[in-house]
Amino acid sequence: MLYSIKIRTSLEEKHISGAERIVSKEKIPNIVKALLERQKHKEFDFSNIKIEKISQEPIILEKSLKIETYEFKNYEEALSFALNIMSEKTNIHLETAKKFINLLYIGASPDKNNMRGAMIVNEKGERLEKDKFRGVRTVLVDFINRDRITEKLLEKGYTERTVDALALATKNLNYKKLIAEFCISDDEDYTTGYLAIDGKYIRLKPLKPYGLDKGGRIYFVKNDTNIDELYNYLEKIPVLIEDINE
Ligand code: COA
Ligand code: AMP
Repeated sequence: MLYSIKIRTSLEEKHISGAERIVSKEKIPNIVKALLERQKHKEFDFSNIKIEKISQEPIILEKSLKIETYEFKNYEEALSFALNIMSEKTNIHLETAKKFINLLYIGASPDKNNMRGAMIVNEKGERLEKDKFRGVRTVLVDFINRDRITEKLLEKGYTERTVDALALATKNLNYKKLIAEFCISDDEDYTTGYLAIDGKYIRLKPLKPYGLDKGGRIYFVKNDTNIDELYNYLEKIPVLIEDINE
């Protein structure tokens, strides 16, 4: 039997960090301890740990997306590289992709703050998330042996963030109607972003200017995507990943 452990932490109502692990029952105490350890140097006034039994059989994915990394002189060059890949690999017009991606840099929520989850945009350029302040959040995903995967990725020079985001993007792209994910962190000093597309997790350095506290994610989907089914997959279906794609 598997359990999802989720932790989220905030300061003055602002979300600071969140993480999820999927583990067997006997590992729960150690994992909770490790998650608390991770945030011990962060300033926060609220933290919530949620442990839930997973009732549904998880989807097992043998491999994650394949990681590639590209470095650029500035974020504008990285962005145009990402947009070119998108227009080569999808039916989404460059101008459409650009219009929505630009919103992430100014705050994609209607009040110009960051959204609390991802925006959803179809090939026609329609925004589909049910709530434009919240968006949709991908949950219920982890690597089966996270410690081994983390070790492997750190050895290759990646970060813990890569572990988390790679798992999330791998779950996302496993949904066949979800064609691409574009992401920039809302952390002002983390400028690496990524485009997940066509089996790849393409890290782009830098994808935003240093010091910008805006960020977000866009899930680009096929026109015939059923939005309730997409939400159900992202929020309710557990996915476990066996290994990275080397
Ligand atoms: N950003 C901003 N606010 C968030 C948030 C996020 N990522 N996750 C939760 N919140 C806040 C929201 O106010 C939310 O209310 P809402 O549903 O109306 O938006 C509230 O917390 C409760 O959210 P809930 O979904 O019940 O949280 P949870 O306890 O189930 O935890 C997380 C969810 C934090 C584990 C999940 O959102 C998450 O981020 N998981 C992935 C972490 C990760 O690896 N991210 C990739 C990093 S690169
Ligand atoms: P982060 O990579 O944690 O800095 O998050 C960047 C942005 O992605 C946030 O501002 C949210 O808009 C969005 N986001 C955060 N968590 C999730 C999630 N679990 N699923 C989808 N989008 C998310």
